[in-house]
Amino acid sequence: MIEALRQLEAEAKQELSALTDSQVLADLKIKYLGRKGLFASVSARISEVSPEEKRLAGQEMNRVKQALEALFSSREEAFQLGPEASTKKIDTTMPGTFHAPGNLHPLTQVISDVVDIFARLGFSLVDGPEVETEHYNFEALNIPLNHAARDSFDTFYLDNGKLLRSQTSTVQIRVMEKNRPPLKIIAPGKVFRPDATDATHSFMFHQIEGLMVDEQVSFADLKGVLFEFAREFFGPKTKVRFRPHFFPFTEPSAEIDIFFPSRDQWLEILGAGLVHPHVLKSVNIDPEKYSGFAFGMGVERLAMLKYGVEDIRHFFENDVRFLRQF
Ligand code: DAH
Repeated sequence: MIEALRQLEAEAKQELSALTDSQVLADLKIKYLGRKGLFASVSARISEVSPEEKRLAGQEMNRVKQALEALFSSREEAFQLGPEASTKKIDTTMPGTFHAPGNLHPLTQVISDVVDIFARLGFSLVDGPEVETEHYNFEALNIPLNHAARDSFDTFYLDNGKLLRSQTSTVQIRVMEKNRPPLKIIAPGKVFRPDATDATHSFMFHQIEGLMVDEQVSFADLKGVLFEFAREFFGPKTKVRFRPHFFPFTEPSAEIDIFFPSRDQWLEILGAGLVHPHVLKSVNIDPEKYSGFAFGMGVERLAMLKYGVEDIRHFFENDVRFLRQF
């Protein structure tokens, strides 16, 4: 019987050492120490023990009972402290859990790069509303009622007579209305056009508008600023070309291309020109005294050209496999 008691103690110890779950601990306690448990059934054999051995067997019974009780209560205590405290050893030399630091969205990066370049040239960052009136999106910008851009196929009109701005040129008017020259501003933001989505079109995209107005601002100033921008943004050897173009709010107007040696191609990056006298008049700035230049560029287009992205939809799908590459 003494042998059986000791074996019981050893088994209990072993089972308890492999334990990870407090429910299993409760079950084991019943198995060993319950009223019909293993200890009770081994102890019952005391009646069969010979009188000479009874004293020793009785002592062993008490010792094993106390040992088992101590064993169970120390395990119970450990579980109350949390399972790690008793079953897992913490290796303080293991590397910690790595959390990738994340990065700004490529469009946010492009906007901030462009704004930084113009900030170094003395331009201030400004903002304008996305919900606009026809006045700011068209009239004040010298875009007549019969212009194609005013068609509902080219602009999102809202029920309240307002619209979603289709260009950031609106900010030129908002800035000149409230401030007198000299002015040098850069205005990034969202614009909206009801285009069917494909690899190069999206109903929402981003533009960056620039405007400088002062006495004697000339086309040479525009060229100097845009050459500087192109070289800062695309690299110091970048070739830039001005092509005549038409915009209602500038006169003369130009489209600016840069040369991509990897594609052996000139590609358009922005529109620009000297602010049309009608536009200056619409905000009560005297075109005889002041002149200015303005430009507007598409952020997605800049990003696609700089990083070789083939499809504009990548920017809006939030696939981290794409976004992580920037
Ligand atoms: N707003 C024009 C567009 O969305 C871009 C543009 C062209 C802006 C010439 C300008 C500019 O300020 O001078 O296509």
